[in-house]
Amino acid sequence: MEWLGAWAVNCRSSPQYGKLDIMTSAGQTEDLRERLRELVVFEGDLAHFDVSDSPPHPAELFLRWLEEAIEARVREPHAMTLSTVDPEGRPTSRVLILKGLGDGRWEFASSRRSRKGKELQDNSWAALSFYWSELGRQVRIRGRVLEAGADRSADDFLARSTGARAEALAGTQSEVLSDSSDLEEALCEARELIERDPGVVDEQWTVYGLVADEVEFWQAHPERRHVRLRYLLRDGSWERVQLWP
Ligand SMILES: Cc1cc2nc3c(=O)[nH]c(=O)nc-3n(C[C@H](O)[C@H](O)[C@H](O)COP(=O)(O)O)c2cc1C
Repeated sequence: MEWLGAWAVNCRSSPQYGKLDIMTSAGQTEDLRERLRELVVFEGDLAHFDVSDSPPHPAELFLRWLEEAIEARVREPHAMTLSTVDPEGRPTSRVLILKGLGDGRWEFASSRRSRKGKELQDNSWAALSFYWSELGRQVRIRGRVLEAGADRSADDFLARSTGARAEALAGTQSEVLSDSSDLEEALCEARELIERDPGVVDEQWTVYGLVADEVEFWQAHPERRHVRLRYLLRDGSWERVQLWP
């Protein structure tokens, strides 16, 4: 039973936690566990995934699934979680909007001076995940993030609403806001600036593109026989493998 020994070693090496001081009482914790257990997952009209019908390129399958999510009226189907790491390797995640899929790059836009922007400058490896709960579908993507270039970023900036442009121009995303009146004042000035010069562009606004080298498609099954298909880029071509649920 060598594998069991390896598992035990791995298991021991994972730090375990005891009772957390921030929990007010054990009763509340148990009550929450009970309520969480009662919540349902993977119910309703889930989609079907036939892996034998998967195309050679993951971007193609992604577009197919995205279309199906839009048609199924999934709420904000273009919202995705982006994870980056800091110089110590500590990950952080946040939700962003998918802006496009140009040249097989999953595109998003943000400020270069934001936390994510700084982390990507130091370490361009990142991960994206989509969850379309109404269909029971998840897509996980890993790869390197590149900047799209000044023109593409400016076009994206100018296509944003006035409010969104003013917000970007007003200050530095992710920095500490010590007084909320500073935000009001900065927004007011930014709106005036846009009125005077409608073509003004925030130099820090950046379109990024994640160039994937691994994409996993995950289809929920009500009896937990979930279907997982992983695409891996090896020597320039995509390999497909199915994974245990
Ligand atoms: C549905 C949704 C969409 C969002 N879209 C964007 C986006 O496209 N770009 C962006 O910079 N922030 C977006 N945000 C805000 C980010 O989640 C995040 O708070 C912000 O970018 C700061 O992240 P950071 O401090 O890690 O850099 C969105 C948030 C939500 C909930």
